[in-house]
Amino acid sequence: MCLWIFAYLNYCVPRTRKEIFETLVKGLQRLEYRGYDSAGIAVDGNKKTTTEDDGKIVLIKKKGKVKALDEELYKKDCMDLEVELDTHFGIAHTRWATHGEPSALNSHPQRSDKNNEFVVIHNGIITNYKELKKYLNSKGYEFESETDTEVIPKLIKYVYDNRERDDMSFSTLVERVIQQLEGAFALVFKSHYFPGEAVATRRGSPLLIGVRSKYELSAEHIPIQYNTKLHFSSDEGVQDKNSHNRPDKPDKSTAVNSAGDGKAVEYYFASDASAIIEHTNKVIYLEDDDIAAVVGGKLSLHRVNSLAGEDSVRAIQTLQMELQEIMKGNFEAFMQKEIFEQPESVFNTMRGRICFHTNKGRLKDHLKEIKRCRRLIMIGCGTSFHAAVATRQILEELTELPVMVELASDFLDRNTPVFRDDVCFYISQSGETADTLMALRYCKDRGALTVGVTNTVGSSISRDTDCGVHINAGPEIGVASTKAYTSQFVALIMFGLMMSEDRISLQPRRLEIINGLKILPDMIKNVLTLDNKIKSIADELYQQKSLLVMGRGFNYATCLEGALKIKEITYMHSEGILAGELKHGPLALIDKHMPVIMIIMKDACYTKCQNALQQVTARSGRPIILCCQDDQEMSENAYKTIELPHTVDCLQGILSVIPLQLLSFHLAVLRGYDVSLPLPALSLWTLIT
Ligand code: M6R
Repeated sequence: MCLWIFAYLNYCVPRTRKEIFETLVKGLQRLEYRGYDSAGIAVDGNKKTTTEDDGKIVLIKKKGKVKALDEELYKKDCMDLEVELDTHFGIAHTRWATHGEPSALNSHPQRSDKNNEFVVIHNGIITNYKELKKYLNSKGYEFESETDTEVIPKLIKYVYDNRERDDMSFSTLVERVIQQLEGAFALVFKSHYFPGEAVATRRGSPLLIGVRSKYELSAEHIPIQYNTKLHFSSDEGVQDKNSHNRPDKPDKSTAVNSAGDGKAVEYYFASDASAIIEHTNKVIYLEDDDIAAVVGGKLSLHRVNSLAGEDSVRAIQTLQMELQEIMKGNFEAFMQKEIFEQPESVFNTMRGRICFHTNKGRLKDHLKEIKRCRRLIMIGCGTSFHAAVATRQILEELTELPVMVELASDFLDRNTPVFRDDVCFYISQSGETADTLMALRYCKDRGALTVGVTNTVGSSISRDTDCGVHINAGPEIGVASTKAYTSQFVALIMFGLMMSEDRISLQPRRLEIINGLKILPDMIKNVLTLDNKIKSIADELYQQKSLLVMGRGFNYATCLEGALKIKEITYMHSEGILAGELKHGPLALIDKHMPVIMIIMKDACYTKCQNALQQVTARSGRPIILCCQDDQEMSENAYKTIELPHTVDCLQGILSVIPLQLLSFHLAVLRGYDVSLPLPALSLWTLIT
């Protein structure tokens, strides 16, 4: 996901324009850590000020940081900052370029026309935008940006211009638009024709709505209103098959205001709870194809048609997250803070469990079924995939089942055969990664039991799986995933322990692991004390072009994960190499100049790793070795050692990854990168797309 949404509606809550700007800008700042290259907002203009801008929606967009946008807002002479607006709807957005270079024109909100009649912010991608653009071009609509998003405001204007009734509601217009869209989206619409009204919808991209009022909420659930199905005709535009049947105004009985007609209420729309939590903890997560509309301060939810077995209400949930949880504290960057949180985050993963899933079947309830399955398939992307690689061996040992580990994109590309007696795990920090979600849908269609392993309550993966584990690592804000990895690791090991509870022969092994888990938080604390030493290694390495990380067995995943962290944050080439493969090619890279990190722990692969070490030193390599404390032999053969506490073989990867997380952080800082906002990566990205 690469674009972020924030919008704010105040109904009967007087706010000066300056306050509205501040709310919108702060909302964007909360989402800043995700990375972006430009930002923009849309607000109502002054009434009766200049003839040109009389009451029109005003768009302010800027390439670069939110700070630059913020400065720009106060340069607009025509905007009276002190004017109080009783009811107002403002939308804001940060963009990471995918279609068209980073520029004010390509940033969001995108608009329908020069009068800004409809404006839209979008998170996601519209895959059929070329066809829609061609169609709209043929109808005389002119485009000004290179974005896929611009078809959306143009399309809604087209639907509006060709509406068959004057009283067609804003949400009906949006309903018609989304039926023509293919791809993934979260959208928020604002219109000159519907002042003080908001419409938002999603498909495949997250979107939630926060509600704040001093009055009691009138309900704990919002019922869904179902409308009749629509179709699109290329000659006549969008048609409603049964327009006379559909309620075009929100039904009073199914709309929610905090306390009935005319009562003050505020709504916050965002792609991420971190932008909402400081305003309210009452939120509604939208489902795919839900359309949320606020009219006269009332929120109603609509869908075109109902699907069998679908919930007919959306719950107003109470978020437990605290603002300080998502703030940086005294650390230089969220990534650093999150690395140092790992003693607590892994403890929280283990606390009082294993098993819960929001409003869903608990993992325990499905255990019998899982034990009967033919194989386990673990699916994820990036770091989440590495958590599967890291635990595969112990899961095979404890479950006595074949375990496949799959990168979600490749799994889909191969049309991998999946059967009803497979159990498929979806590992995802965010619970929203598009490839992992698509793999989930693919396996559901084939009747497999689906298990989510996510860090985000209310995320699509936690909602759409049959059961699962919430890893409880706390919000992970850094772009580089760190504490989520170690918590995913622990959660998967705990799943293995559950599966082997009644296997007598496995009890000694289980006990060894359980004892290891008990002292894991203290061992992590111990590893974190190596920070200064690791910083001094980073001082030596930061000007290098490449860094190889080698290991095998239980520590191979650490090599992959360490190399990914280094690439992602430092922009240095790095490769995780299976030490057993060294002689099959990679050895050619080794000489005294090539920085090499080797992970050699006292486990079943120790002797094999010593062989690899000999191959490296024979080629004058100067390895930095991650090894167990007091391993004299390693100290003698290494250029440098990083000594780690020794734990159970299958848990060692949790300890060995931490020095590599710290190393990538220090390398990034020394190389001059903003670890929280890896913008240089964005410009590289835009160069190659
Ligand atoms: O939210 P997810 O765990 O599904 O995200 C998957 C990957 O995009 C993610 O782990 C990525 O590889 C990390 N940013 C790497 O640090």
